[in-house]
Amino acid sequence: MAKVALITGVTGQDGAYLSEFLLSKGYEVHGIKRRASLFNTDRIDHLFEGHHCKHNNFYLHYGDMTDSMNLTRLIADICPDEIYNLAAQSHVAVSFETPEYTANADGIGTLRILDAVRFLKLIDKCRIYQASTSELYGKVQEIPQNEKTPFYPRSPYAVAKMYAYWITVNYREAYNVFACNGILFNHESPVRGETFVTRKITRAAAKISLNLQEKLYLGNLDAKRDWGHAKDYVKMMWMILQYKDPEDWVIATGQTTMVRDFVKLAFEYCGIALEFVGKGIDEKGVIAKLDFHKAKEHHLDLSHLKIGQELVCVDPQYFRPTEVDLLLGDPSKAEEKLGWNREFNLEDLVCDMMRSDLKLMNKDKYLQEGGYTIMRYYE
Ligand code: NAP
Ligand code: GDD
Repeated sequence: MAKVALITGVTGQDGAYLSEFLLSKGYEVHGIKRRASLFNTDRIDHLFEGHHCKHNNFYLHYGDMTDSMNLTRLIADICPDEIYNLAAQSHVAVSFETPEYTANADGIGTLRILDAVRFLKLIDKCRIYQASTSELYGKVQEIPQNEKTPFYPRSPYAVAKMYAYWITVNYREAYNVFACNGILFNHESPVRGETFVTRKITRAAAKISLNLQEKLYLGNLDAKRDWGHAKDYVKMMWMILQYKDPEDWVIATGQTTMVRDFVKLAFEYCGIALEFVGKGIDEKGVIAKLDFHKAKEHHLDLSHLKIGQELVCVDPQYFRPTEVDLLLGDPSKAEEKLGWNREFNLEDLVCDMMRSDLKLMNKDKYLQEGGYTIMRYYE
């Protein structure tokens, strides 16, 4: 009998990679998606063969983390062996704008899942993965951060996730639920949401190289993040639920990089060497060198660019009321007990994202040259 998994947040970055991974392991996968006024299944389109395909092992259900009745009914109907609770309002900056909703979906939403499993008497059958986050460390109390580092959340998102973390621990201790927190550090990919900083950068580097955009506006260039590839990280979600005991785990690369350096790597891929001049809100990323050979490898013509041209500027609208300056994870526990090792390093991640965004933006350029309107998607 195939194991049955239920994934909340199946339309998101991690939901898509995890679905693909679990299907490849022979699971029957059920995903909860929100109703949206447009299709929101782009990331899982290649997995879903439609309701009429008999061999389909992938099922989608409408649902929402703010609707207890819906979640309880779905869990009762699906009776999953494993639940991966990935759904969340996951944007830190947006959580300052929508704090109550973020608390409801990200904090109380987790309680709804845990309590549905208890109420339905599925505790002995069902294991639960909770998508916890390195944002819990916020104003970091030690470097690097491990499972024992005290939390100091710095946003409504992180505070909501802190409730979710502790309610997961509480249901484990109070009712013996096999419930685990994966404290995952930032992980990115070609299907990362477009408003997270890495994807914003790789999309802009591709568009600027193709003469589809003039400048990239960013916020805090000094922030440091421990960036890994989402493909590696979803494997660990599964490993965490296969471990003999329910525990909490830090999943990270152990390497931290400044936003500014990620920008340099992305542009370098296209043959554009940037140097940063000035300070604070007057800092600019300007072209120091153009490598036409490298550009040619990616079929790019950089003749529209000039040495000294400003490509990156700071826009204070992207600053956050309280910032997380530095995240650096210590994944020793996962390395020792789960055998955590990574396929992608930072350079591989940048290459994977740039390759994909150049392909995407080349398609846009082709459409534009053919006289069609292309979306600009500014935020
Ligand atoms: P994501 O791309 O933003 O995906 C979030 C998913 O949650 C989407 O499918 C979204 O649906 C869904 N969702 C949002 N609100 C919902 C609601 N009220 N009811 C039902 N579904 C809802 O996030 P991700 O990067 O894949 O991250 C997955 C999880 O890991 C999140 O909980 C995030 O907070 C956490 N996390 C992420 C990272 C990271 O670096 N990526 C690190 C640590 C923890 P729509 O598609 O309709 O918007
Ligand atoms: N989004 C964004 N946009 N961030 C910017 C920008 C910009 O224009 N300019 C600078 N930054 C800085 C942010 O201030 C932050 O310090 C850093 O880049 C990373 O921002 P995001 O990519 O938005 O990610 P995050 O670290 O805030 O949150 C992500 O990682 C968490 C794990 O640590 C999200 O995926 C969360 O859901 C996740 O929990």
